[in-house]
Amino acid sequence: MPNAYISGVGGYVPPRVVTNDDLAKHYGIETTHEWIHQRTGIEERRYADEGVASSEMGFYASQIALKHANLSIRDIDMIIFATLSPDMNFPGSGCFMQRRFTELFEGDMPKFVPALDIRNQCSGFIYGLAVGAGMVQAGTAKNILLVGAETHSAALDFTTRGRTVTSLFGDGAGAAIISATDDPARGLRKWQLGADGRGAESLCMPVWDMRQRPFIPLKDGVSGPATIAPEMLWPQMDGKQVFRNAVEKMCHSLMGVCFEMGLSTDDIDLFAFHQANLRINSYVADTLGIPPHKLLHNIHKYGNTTAATIPLLLWEAYEEGKLKPGMKVALCGFGAGFTWGAAIIDW
Ligand code: ACO
Repeated sequence: MPNAYISGVGGYVPPRVVTNDDLAKHYGIETTHEWIHQRTGIEERRYADEGVASSEMGFYASQIALKHANLSIRDIDMIIFATLSPDMNFPGSGCFMQRRFTELFEGDMPKFVPALDIRNQCSGFIYGLAVGAGMVQAGTAKNILLVGAETHSAALDFTTRGRTVTSLFGDGAGAAIISATDDPARGLRKWQLGADGRGAESLCMPVWDMRQRPFIPLKDGVSGPATIAPEMLWPQMDGKQVFRNAVEKMCHSLMGVCFEMGLSTDDIDLFAFHQANLRINSYVADTLGIPPHKLLHNIHKYGNTTAATIPLLLWEAYEEGKLKPGMKVALCGFGAGFTWGAAIIDW
């Protein structure tokens, strides 16, 4: 059975920077830099311009990851695209991204790389890693392109009513190539996933509700002018409930994978936690005795980019020379669903 290791990472964030002060000044939201920064660690985030969707940002991140892995898109056997903000409800963003790689369709031998979308929110990258690594280990794929990309700015409530959620999220994309190797020193060693559907409504965007007729509930009826109630249209969150569960499940799953491998957190060189909130991550790190210098952060620059946070962290750490072969790296995340996961990689 081959090992599945990460042979390349890439990232992309849109150029437009939106600071906490911009949310107040340009969007008219009653908020302050101090409120957001103290509670979340966020200083600014990036917003994509209108016309840019998750598949486009994912494409840019993927090009960097492929180059890093020294591969072309024709070497890829499967695309896994993790997002909660897909280009449209269907088809999946993996298909929209795939067709941007025009070299797949050139010449006499087009390559129709399969594209799988997964909807696991902030845990999407770890869920995708487990699926992709499983395929590589089973020998059904040699190289898998795993993307996490989000365009949150298209679907946030830019009024004071929505300030709690709106101040948290930003746009961006990260990508990783999962490849087969015979090198016993490298590879994804363990992963652990979990879900608790009882928390589904604690963080959700209910606008697409197939139980209702029509599926987008219109406040004033289905014919003639109508509106969608804001609580249906925009993401809704019970922040305290999310916070409590995130800390508990992240600690639990990280300890779980370490325990299964007979490791302590001291044996891990680098921790890439999902970037939901600096306070959540500091709490987890303090609880598990992880020293600050081993913990990667980018929430201050990008906010919460959901499925993109972990690959963006890995890409930046690689670019900055902090992530090197031979290191033991732990990933951990928690998000809507609730879903969560942790993984240990010999880089
Ligand atoms: N600016 C100013 N005031 C605000 C803002 C804002 N951006 N947002 C909320 N407030 C106000 C509220 O209106 C409320 O005012 P009131 O007391 O007059 O009613 C007050 O601040 C307190 O609001 P709470 O929602 O109780 O604030 P809380 O202390 O719980 O902090 C926060 C909110 C930061 C979201 C916190 O609950 C949290 O971090 N939760 C974790 C959620 C998270 O990280 N989600 C990310 C997505 S999920 C994931 O990726 C894991």
